[in-house]
Parts: sequence; structure tokens; C-alpha cells
Amino acid sequence: MVGGMFYPEELVEEVRERNDIVSVIGSYVKLKKTGANYVGLCPFHNEKSPSFSVSGSKQMYYCFGCGVGGNVYTFLMEYENYTFVEALKALADRAGVKLPELEYSQEEKRQADRRSRLYEINKLAAKYYYCQLRDEKRGSMAYQYLKRRGLSDETITHFGLGASSKSGGDLYRYLRSKGYDDEILSQTGLITMDERRGAYDKFWNRVIFPIMDANSKVIGFGGRVMGEGTPKYLNSPETMVFDKSRNLYGLNFARQTRKNYMIICEGYMDVIALHQAGFTNAVASLGTAFTGLQAALLARYTKEVFLTYDSDEAGTKAALRAIPILKEAGLTARVINMKPYKDPDEFIKALGAEEFENRIKQAGNSFYFEIEVLERQFDLTDPEQKTKFFNETAKKLLVFTEELERNNYIEAIARRYNVGYESLRKLVNRYGAMQSVVKTDTERPVRQENGKKDRADEGMRTSQKLLLTWLINDNRQFEAIRGIIGPEDFTEEFYREVAGMVFEQYETKRTVIPAGIISRFENKEEQTMAAELFSTELSGELGSTEQEKAFAETVRRIKKNSLDLASRKAAEAGDGQALQKIIMEQANLQKLHISLKNG
Ligand code: GTP
Ligand code: MN
Repeated sequence: MVGGMFYPEELVEEVRERNDIVSVIGSYVKLKKTGANYVGLCPFHNEKSPSFSVSGSKQMYYCFGCGVGGNVYTFLMEYENYTFVEALKALADRAGVKLPELEYSQEEKRQADRRSRLYEINKLAAKYYYCQLRDEKRGSMAYQYLKRRGLSDETITHFGLGASSKSGGDLYRYLRSKGYDDEILSQTGLITMDERRGAYDKFWNRVIFPIMDANSKVIGFGGRVMGEGTPKYLNSPETMVFDKSRNLYGLNFARQTRKNYMIICEGYMDVIALHQAGFTNAVASLGTAFTGLQAALLARYTKEVFLTYDSDEAGTKAALRAIPILKEAGLTARVINMKPYKDPDEFIKALGAEEFENRIKQAGNSFYFEIEVLERQFDLTDPEQKTKFFNETAKKLLVFTEELERNNYIEAIARRYNVGYESLRKLVNRYGAMQSVVKTDTERPVRQENGKKDRADEGMRTSQKLLLTWLINDNRQFEAIRGIIGPEDFTEEFYREVAGMVFEQYETKRTVIPAGIISRFENKEEQTMAAELFSTELSGELGSTEQEKAFAETVRRIKKNSLDLASRKAAEAGDGQALQKIIMEQANLQKLHISLKNG
């Protein structure tokens, strides 16, 4: 249970009730009333027409575009990057509720405290570096360096770039003067504590790139030597607030883009050069390999990604690794060809923004890129190697499982490499057949059955979601299903858990507050899933004959599924008596009259 660990649930509920979700979200997002709900542009993904819906009666939000949802706590946690306790504090403050100090565990308090102090220190450090850069004596070298690299004053300010001085202890002394002790300073990653040398700054004589999270909070720093020297870039280590695998440099700006795609590049300077040239949708991973968490982060804002990694071997390898990760997250990947230049920064300096825009338009999809990379390993003038190349290509074409799509790619590749469509198709099919033989004939039918089963499961999940939404929207319908359906009939484990809470609330309070149920889940995924359960889109209002039929049908389907499952279990257990009872119930289900409660 969220918060319940340190604050009593009643208090969490009280704070939630005193903060109307419409007015809280309304202070971040422009909302318009439509019918019973409010709608606006979703702040969690990029969209042009509003699919973000806020319900005053349910005290929750849900985005039909990207699927995020939750209550007022979840919103602040997502939007402000707050922990639950931080969100609770902010909302308590807003509503003038005094929170008791003692409910907090000592450890929790220390951790929360430390995180917010680290954010504070990072912000101070960023300001400090920024002022150093603007200092005519101390910062002129760094300033000249950035200017030589073509950055305008506006860009330097926009990205908050800074400079660390030559002396090596300035930041440390400055932060000490602000009252921070060695214990906390050693956790910032900015100060190195050494037994012999004492404390000294990690960065000295470098230009500084503050790294911000999606909400523009400074979480870490990168520093570049001015000119030649090693290491070229020095990045601050991971800390309590800096997790390199789940942040992207530039995302705080890129998330506001109106374009429907994002650009991923390798370096800080690439991001900055791209933004300066008008490509404000560019981000970079933080000097580490691209991760699934970063892909998931991007998938919140876009569906399509253009890779513009360095055109050298390392960059190509990094792109090849990133492509499947992006696909896994449901993103389409394209690869920009920057030849003959190394990276987007150099490209734009040499050929300009317009030419880069052309390269974006020409960017091939990631499959062609993979084939091009493959091609480099073979000498296509040699018949034997050429055959090998086509064999490898044929194997790769098997990733397309849809016949039509696969044939389209076979056709395109055949045309591109001037080889007969039919012979390439035969080759692909031969590998396809080999693959299914290797997998033995037991594996395939099972898979197909699984496919069917998945679809049936999906249908059942939809029915169960639908019923929950119905019950939440109109509490009277609890009476319509009384004695027919209970939480135990929700066969999906998570749904059963939620249904249990929903039914219990109705039984004890005769009303159900979805937002309250959402805060009882600990992690964001569960909160979003719960919000989704309460937000199934209903066509039209309850009450019409059509709806009445749909409702009865849904109830019957859920009950039947639950009884079928129970009968299978009873049969397996050899429990004849239980089986008899279930069969009776199954027979009765046909005759059962289920009708909506009105008035
Ligand atoms: P410039 O030479 O300033 O244009 O750098 P770049 O943007 O072309 O960077 P490069 O392609 O050399 O490296 C891409 C990214 O990898 C950088 O932004 C850093 O995050 C990281 N990186 C590069 N060199 C180093 C290094 O020596 N150490 C560490 N830790 N990271 C590095
Ligand atoms: Mn570069």
C-alpha cells in the first residue's frame, strides 16, 4: 500500500479528497468541460487533439491516447517526478492539512530528505557553473570554446551550460559556505573525498553540461575538456537522483515538440547543435548504451524515432543494438545517413539544417539499415560471397511474420540488389520451413493455440474491465448483479484484487471512490492499470435497450467463464459433489434474468 506504510490510509484519503483533481490538473493542463468530464492535451505524450480525460466524479484521469492514468497523487508523481511522500506533502500543503511527523519512519524521512537536498545542491552547482562561465576572467576560455563550436548565447543560456574553474576546490568551498556538510556533498558525485588530499571538485577546467530529467530538474553533469585531452567527457556518477538508464539528455525540451517523431543521437553536443538548428525533438542517451527504460520513456511521447548515431563502427554497432530495443517498446525506427560526416553536429555545421531535414526525409527504415550493414561484410562481386549475403538476408527477412509484409520486403530487397523476386522468396521460404522443422511439430500447434487463447483471454479481460467501469459509473448496478457475480468471478488476478476492493467499498460505504482505490497500489504500473479498469470507454449512456442487453451479456459471459474454470478445477480434483453444483449453476445461468437497475 502506497503511503500506508508511513501515513494512515485515512489521512492519505483526506488529503486526496481535499484536493479536487480537476483544479489540481487544471493548474498544469488547460482543461475543457465536455459532458461529465474534462478533456485536454495529454501532458505525458505529444498530441494535437485532446485525449486526456479528467473525471470530477471519479477523481481520476485517464489518457485514451497513451494509456496513462491515476489519481491526483499519481498525477503529481508523474508530472513533477515526485515520490509518493513528496506528492502527499505538496497536496497536504495545498489544502492546508497538517501532516504528523511521527508516522514517517526514520529511514524514509532520511531518504526523502536526502533526495531533495541532492536536487537542491545540483541546482546550486548548476548555477555556480553557469556564473563561472559568465565571469569574464574565469570563464572566458570556456566561453570562447563554446563560441568556437558555434553555439549562440541564446543556446548557451537555454541549456544552462557552464564552466568549472582551474583551481579544483571552488565548488566544494562554495557548497560548504552554503551549509552543506561533507557527508551529503560526497553523495552528489561532484566532490571527491580523498583521505590524503581532502575534498576536491570532480570537474575542473571543463565546460559543463547540466543534465536534466524530463521535468527540468538537474540530476547530474557532464564536462568536456576544452580542446584535446582525456577523458574527453567526464560524467558525474549515478547518485540517488541520477539514474543514467532512465533519463535522456534534452528530453525536458524535446517532450514539448509538436513534431510526431524524436531524434536520438549520441552526444550532448549533438543534441545542442540539433536544437540550435531547429530540431528541438533531439535527445541523447547519457554516454551509455540505449536502454529499454529509455525506449519506454520515449514511447510516452512519440511513435517514431530517427537514429542519428555516429557513422563510425562504434556508432553503427550502437544503432544495431538500439533498433530491437526500440521495436520492443513499440516504436518504429529509422536511421539517418550522415555521410560523409561523423555526427549531426559536424553535419549541420558543414551542410546546414535544410540538408539535415532532407536526410530525415530520406532516412530508410531500420531493416534496410541492418541489411546495408550486413552487406559491408561481403564482397558482392564474388559469386560465392554474394550467395552467402543473400542467404543471410533471407534469414533476416523471416522477422516479418505477416506474409504480405514479408513479400513486400522481399520485393524491395530483390529490386534493390537486382536479384529475382521468386528466387529470393523461395530462399526465404526454405529457411522458414527449416525453422519450423527445427522447432518440431509440437511447438507450432501449441503456439497457434496460444494465439487463439490469447485472443479469448483478451476478450474476457475486456468484459471484466467493462463490468468494473459500469459498476463504478453507476453504483446501483451492484444491486443488479448481487448474488450473481462477486470479486471471485474476476479470473484475471489483478482484476480480482481490484474487484475485491471495489466490492468491499460498496458493501461498507455504499459508494465507490476509484481514486481511493488507486492509491492503495504501490507502483505506477499498477496504478495505471487500475485507472484503466475504471475507464473503459462506454458507448453511450446506460439505460437504452442495447446497453441493457450488453450489460446482461457481459455479466453472463463473466459468470460462464468463472464457472467453466471452476468446473475444470473440480473435475481435475475429482470432486464430484462440487462438479454437480457447478453444472446446476451453469444450467441456471441460461435462465437467469439480469436487468439494469433504474431510478
Ligand atoms: P565532441 O567531440 O564534443 O563533438 O563530442 P561528441 O558529441 O562528438 O561525442 P562523442 O561522439 O565523442 O561521444 C558521444 C558521447 O559519449 C558523449 O556525449 C559522452 O556522453 C560520451 N563520451 C565520449 N567520450 C567520453 C569519455 O572519454 N568518457 C566518458 N565517460 N564518456 C564519453
Ligand atoms: Mn561531435
